[in-house]
Amino acid sequence: MIAVQHEINVAQFLSGQGSAIPLFKVFMPEDAVDDSREVLLSGYIGQGPRVDLFEENLKDWMSSPHILTLNSGTSAIHLALRLAGVGLGDEVVTTPMTCLATNLPILANGARIVWADIDPETGNIAPQSVREKITAKTKAIICVDWGGYPCDLTELQAIADDHGINLIEDAAHGFGSKYKDRFVGGIADFTCFSFQAIKHLTTIDGGALVCKDPEDYRRGKLLRWFGIDRNGPRTDFRCEEDVVEYGYKFHMNDVSAAIGLAQLRHVDSVVDAHRQNARFYYEKLSGLAGKGLELLKHATDRVGSYWLYTIKVDDRLTFMEAMKKKGITVSQVHARNDAHTVFKEFRSSLPGVDAFVQKQVSIPVGWWLTADEKAYIVDCILAHFNSHDVSC
Ligand SMILES: Cc1ncc(COP(=O)(O)O)c(C=O)c1O
Repeated sequence: MIAVQHEINVAQFLSGQGSAIPLFKVFMPEDAVDDSREVLLSGYIGQGPRVDLFEENLKDWMSSPHILTLNSGTSAIHLALRLAGVGLGDEVVTTPMTCLATNLPILANGARIVWADIDPETGNIAPQSVREKITAKTKAIICVDWGGYPCDLTELQAIADDHGINLIEDAAHGFGSKYKDRFVGGIADFTCFSFQAIKHLTTIDGGALVCKDPEDYRRGKLLRWFGIDRNGPRTDFRCEEDVVEYGYKFHMNDVSAAIGLAQLRHVDSVVDAHRQNARFYYEKLSGLAGKGLELLKHATDRVGSYWLYTIKVDDRLTFMEAMKKKGITVSQVHARNDAHTVFKEFRSSLPGVDAFVQKQVSIPVGWWLTADEKAYIVDCILAHFNSHDVSC
């Protein structure tokens, strides 16, 4: 009974149910309902032609055609680590400033974590820190595009190439982001996307792994389903062929893919709305620098997808309390991973992370905001930092 109550509270918080302006909201167009209904009643709901079509259509949004849809973004990271050759006792250099889903698969693959520091101006991993943390045991680097803002991919990939290891980009927040005029997804050796409920594009749960190397793609396609080629020769529906190496049950199904295909028809306007809202905040809030609110610094050679709009606030607790009273949902979204007991043996000094976590908080930025709500949020923030009340 208590667990159920907790679930309801989390769901209400995430979706901003009640009168508060939500921080996240599920985007579900009517055509996704119609198309998934058709699959549900078709007699075939497993991985089939819709998955193939979804992967084909996703190519318009990626810089590589080697796309494997999966049952989650977490599975994408797990599979990427496996394909990168990460195993027992190897080290992976990664950031703690992310969802647990980025780093738990490192432990699940039997490897050790080495934390690199982040740039507190962006929340993304700092290439210089990565370089310093590489050892002879390092097998991969994981970077996370905080809020959908691409990492320094050129520098990070160069570090990986210098050491003959792989770069895994966790772009769970970053569907539609661009780095130097190219979509993320195929720029790094591996790029992992999440299609979980509250992402720009949702398949309820789901994800994708984009491989730069066609050989990784070929092997990944086997490993996502037990190690078996679903299109291999067989005389009936049974899987008769020899399994050479163990795989997982990470594949996507046709119901999720049908939802994804419908979502793809709308995702351009979803991502664009996030960007326009972010632009509005940059214009309206930049004057508060020096008054206790800093904006993140974003370079002009990349375009984020603004799944989050994170600001840095000196007195965050007071700010969060004030926004809550005004009916605006704000949150830190992710806590630093290195604080968790499960990662305790890997703790190290990370001044950039310390500086970022002290101040970072995200405000609503998504497609659901009306012009009035955006203006209201800005008015409330300006009033808070200019120490006057506003009838908002
Ligand atoms: C940064 C990051 N990486 C990975 C994931 C995992 O994605 P999924 O929930 O699809 O497994 C998430 C989920 O929100 C995330 O925020």
